[in-house]
Amino acid sequence: MARHLITSALPYINGIKHLGNMVGSMLPADVYSRYLRQRGHEVLYICATDEHGTPAELAAKEQGVPVDAFCTEAHHQQKAIYDGFSLAFDYFGRSSSPQNHEITQEIARELKANGFIEERAIRQVYSNADGRFLPDRYIIGTCPHCGYDKARGDQCENCTRVLDPTDLIDARSAISGSSDLEVRETKHLFLLQSALAGEVEAWVDERADNWPVLASSIARKWLTEGLHDRAITRDLDWGVPVPADTWPDLAAAGKVFYVWFDAPIEYIGATKEWADQDPENRDWRSWWWKSDANVQYTQFMGKDNVPFHSVMFPATLLGTRAPWKKVDVIKAFNWLNYYGGKFSTSQRRGVFTHDALDILPADYWRYFMMANAPESDDSSFTWEHFTATVNKDLADTLGNFVNRVLSFSKKRFGEEVPAGSEPGEAETKLGEEITRLLAEYESQMEAIQFRKAAAALRALWSAGNSYLEEKAPWLEIKTNPEGAALTLRTAMNLIHLYAVVSEPFIPTSAKKMREAFSLENDTAAWVTQEEARSLTAVPAGTPFTIPPVLFAKLTDEDLESYKERFGGESAA
Ligand code: 2FM
Ligand code: ZN
Repeated sequence: MARHLITSALPYINGIKHLGNMVGSMLPADVYSRYLRQRGHEVLYICATDEHGTPAELAAKEQGVPVDAFCTEAHHQQKAIYDGFSLAFDYFGRSSSPQNHEITQEIARELKANGFIEERAIRQVYSNADGRFLPDRYIIGTCPHCGYDKARGDQCENCTRVLDPTDLIDARSAISGSSDLEVRETKHLFLLQSALAGEVEAWVDERADNWPVLASSIARKWLTEGLHDRAITRDLDWGVPVPADTWPDLAAAGKVFYVWFDAPIEYIGATKEWADQDPENRDWRSWWWKSDANVQYTQFMGKDNVPFHSVMFPATLLGTRAPWKKVDVIKAFNWLNYYGGKFSTSQRRGVFTHDALDILPADYWRYFMMANAPESDDSSFTWEHFTATVNKDLADTLGNFVNRVLSFSKKRFGEEVPAGSEPGEAETKLGEEITRLLAEYESQMEAIQFRKAAAALRALWSAGNSYLEEKAPWLEIKTNPEGAALTLRTAMNLIHLYAVVSEPFIPTSAKKMREAFSLENDTAAWVTQEEARSLTAVPAGTPFTIPPVLFAKLTDEDLESYKERFGGESAA
């Protein structure tokens, strides 16, 4: 059994995330982690809030609170939502932690010692009214490419082009609105990525063939465009300070590392935060240090994050010349749209994670999002599609099967699993079908192909319905009660199997299904091929209860109320 290190892109601290953020990072990482744990692997799933940079400073300023207090509050708020989504992180850290400060500074020192960080004087926008430089989002103006008049210094939200603050037309300060700006020379640290380009390319060539195609194609495209040296410091108050022992002048001038320099290092930092909570038993270095041979490291992220993870973070780690673990597989996602338009945090368009949980329990969202994950293309969220999927797959195919089988059996045979006759041809056929579909499900999960895995899971649920329709125990009972009992016992075994294998997607409902049976020693984490074929894990005589309705059917009125509350197509 391998040791699996899993990370999902760190959500920015500056606001509650929408479903598009969730489906492209934390949720798939959780589904995959749960699956691997159930298969007996040692798993460490790490995530954290990404707390530095201009977005955090600006959001705190807007609320009129100190940035550290803002981040603490926002971290707990996000964590509570992720608990609500049943995300089973081993640790959910903070990029502002002392651990991340320490490791980020150490990595920077090593890069300097190896000649990969250089001090350079550059020209930057300075605001006379604010008495400070204006990096990234601190400056807004008109995009030189598309004319959008609220483009930020780092990127135009309208045309998504990456910008430099000096590119903006009619630039003004995002703090004071002042356009009394000038360009001044100031010193910053540069990561000499050009000197590492060959190594990074060789590193990518060695492993990207094993990545799902979206990530490998973006990494290769980025490399063909060439690796340029990048400024890795900023003039901000909030961030990891440049260490004074190594760069006294820059430290005295108050420079901090750029958020994209320290954020991926927080994957390591958060692992140390986790270990520091129980140092006797947890060894963070065993995951990150000289661990290439026995740790399989998988990262989950939206496509916009791929360049940072496939090229820039590896360049950072390679340049230290230290034996840091580097990613083995990058799983990337396209965008989830809202009625064909973008989800937008700044314009509050789409469904946000706290609102989603306000409407329905997490399992509804988890299943829908993974079954429609934007893996090969962008996909679109519509309330029509969401309610139809919930009704068909969760309420009709799974929930109704569970309820129907248990209720009918209780009515006819009482509160224990009935024995019935020996399995016949229909049970043999069913066992073979279930074995085949389970193998398909497992192989899609191993390949980290969630839509296909969800389709296999759905097919497993459907197979139970087909069997039930074919055997029709409600008719069988009239002429052959022993046969009807066999059918129900077999169907109850399917429910137990569904409980076990559906857990990665719908953990809360899976638990309820499993708890319906009072089995002694029901601790098996997964289903063996033999159990799938024979469907006898729940023996006759096992007491059972009927769980409350697993998935409520959503009505036309529900659909209308969601569309009204969230805007439906009119919002996009
Ligand atoms: O795009 C984002 O939401 C970033 N906060 C992701 C950071 S991932 C990692 F590098 F920290
Ligand atoms: Zn633009």
